[in-house]
Amino acid sequence: MRVAERFNLFVVEDAAQAIGATYTFSDGRTAQAGTMGHIGCTSFFPSKNLGCFGDGGALMTQDDALAALLQQMANHGQKVKYYHDTVGINSRLDTLQAAVLRVKLPHLNDFARRRQAVAAAYDAAFAAVPGVRIPVRAAESTHVFHQYTLLLDGVDRAAFQAELQSRGIPTMVYYPVPLHLQKAYARPDYPVGTFPVAEYLAQNVVSLPIHTEMEADEIQYIINTLHQILTQLPLA
Ligand SMILES: Cc1ncc(COP(=O)(O)O)c(C=O)c1O
Repeated sequence: MRVAERFNLFVVEDAAQAIGATYTFSDGRTAQAGTMGHIGCTSFFPSKNLGCFGDGGALMTQDDALAALLQQMANHGQKVKYYHDTVGINSRLDTLQAAVLRVKLPHLNDFARRRQAVAAAYDAAFAAVPGVRIPVRAAESTHVFHQYTLLLDGVDRAAFQAELQSRGIPTMVYYPVPLHLQKAYARPDYPVGTFPVAEYLAQNVVSLPIHTEMEADEIQYIINTLHQILTQLPLA
């Protein structure tokens, strides 16, 4: 925000995976993810920490004028029905989705606590296990664990995933292709090797099951299975 102020920029904060998390500033103030920039945005896609029943999302701002403009843009540029002051888009949240979210919103912190409990169990189980690195936590932030992502170290990821899958444990890679290697953003001056850290992470991260309804025996089964296969897997 200091940089933005200096160069007269707007900050749009993507809180799609962070909604419910907090950040504590050096002066002791605490703020919710999505409320620190000029605009915060989030996704209510069903798999998100606060999900609706289909597609949905929201923008957050403390600025009334900006809020009015965003509302107008999301509704075909109209403030008054059939009078278009600007060119907008159709980005209204369905009433049905809003109804689902209205029921779920009061439970947001409880959803976060349940994910944090799963993450704490994984952390304790995997902190000292060779071949995997648990997620690093920033001291000034809480974490709501939209994903619980391990960094594999010398372990063949495809074999790791296949072994877990064969024992009924799905895993996912978020995300397999860094931006500069996506076709949409490919540039001749950004060949493979340009961003080695991003490329290394894309090749070596793997996310374990985490959600609000996980039972203790499911968590234990995942922990035991993972311990077992890590001792058997060939090195990458
Ligand atoms: C961090 C982040 N930003 C934005 C999005 C996009 O959300 P939506 O598909 O609802 O527009 C996602 C969803 O995957 C996300 O994880």
